[in-house]
Amino acid sequence: MKNLISHKANSFSESIIRGMSRVAATYQAVNLAQGFPNFSADERIKQAAIEAIQKNINQYAITWGAKSLRDAIVAKEKRFRGRDLNPETEITVCCGATEGMMATMMAVINPGDEAVIFEPFYENYGPDTILSGAIPHYVKMYPPANDQEDWHFKEEELAAAFNDKTKVIIINTPNNPTGKVFKKSEMEFIALLCQKWNVLAVTDEIYEHILYDGETHVTMANLPGMKDRTITINGSSKTFSVTGWRVGYIIAAPLFTEAIRKVHDFLTVGAAAPLQEAIAFAMGLPDDFYQHLSEDYQKKRDFLLKGLKEVGFKTFKSRGAYYLIAEIPEKGFASDYDYSIHLAKEAGVATVPLSTFYLDHKSAGMIRFCFAKKEETLQLAIDKLKAYRQVKV
Ligand SMILES: Cc1ncc(COP(=O)(O)O)c(C=O)c1O
Repeated sequence: MKNLISHKANSFSESIIRGMSRVAATYQAVNLAQGFPNFSADERIKQAAIEAIQKNINQYAITWGAKSLRDAIVAKEKRFRGRDLNPETEITVCCGATEGMMATMMAVINPGDEAVIFEPFYENYGPDTILSGAIPHYVKMYPPANDQEDWHFKEEELAAAFNDKTKVIIINTPNNPTGKVFKKSEMEFIALLCQKWNVLAVTDEIYEHILYDGETHVTMANLPGMKDRTITINGSSKTFSVTGWRVGYIIAAPLFTEAIRKVHDFLTVGAAAPLQEAIAFAMGLPDDFYQHLSEDYQKKRDFLLKGLKEVGFKTFKSRGAYYLIAEIPEKGFASDYDYSIHLAKEAGVATVPLSTFYLDHKSAGMIRFCFAKKEETLQLAIDKLKAYRQVKV
């Protein structure tokens, strides 16, 4: 019989992360599942969006991004990363890092090309490879033995994943879900492999400004030999707490930017014009805005870490991004997915099962908490977990 659904669409399932937000709504659970803040974005940024609409910036922006935003991206990259970029040939504004990754993959992947991806991986990378036609090659990241260590990969396993067919490696630092911040030595090792095998590094740097305990963000494009073989994906969602605005961007050498802009244009035409103006404004906010971002999130991380420990969860300390992974402290559940559903229903706290960040979706025995929430929300979640655990223990 004729199959009216494409093989591609049939090869992946709906997002569990976004699905858990719906589960949270069903059970009226505190939503610590999907990664978005429940506090307000900075008033100045909201005001800039209102003003842009009032100034009638309401029609299509230039497809690859309003000049004001491309200039702001160039200025921000110079300020924080010391990069010299050309806004005319190296920047593409798109609808979130989500579209950025898809447009990039569709612009560079040919049938049979392989993509190296660290596992656990941000859920979207799976469908990104399927829709672009890349063959994924997953390389394991191992959990740390204690809080002094970070998640790590084995160099020999990574090296073995590269071959003549490898086209890209996707690196997400700071990392979702692990909170890992890739060290300079790790990035240098990856850079050498990229050069040896003529591979592009596609770096998802959406959490670049959310770092804890003095960690620093390493920019792959700044490592020797990497400027022209790095495609940097970034966006406004996390830095400016506006996940619903859908403004992201891609930085790439002119050859790649040209291809990416074509794909982007026919995928979405462009990101919301007035919101591009507001993000251009936001990027120019003084340094203290960026400092507070990390400081405020570090307080939230520590608050949740303490609370989860009190409740009896063994946690992994994140070094960046805004998630915490915890081991499931109870036995008797067929999967971490079942446990997440149970926790949402019985404790009233929604989380994400870690198995969704693995290819085989097998239970990892862990769940992910998002702490981009008001302190009172985190407190409520801890209170609910305490009440639930007391009932159970
Ligand atoms: C690693 C990573 N990349 C990309 C995104 C999505 O970014 P955007 O909202 O810009 O599409 C997320 C959102 O959670 C993420 O965690």
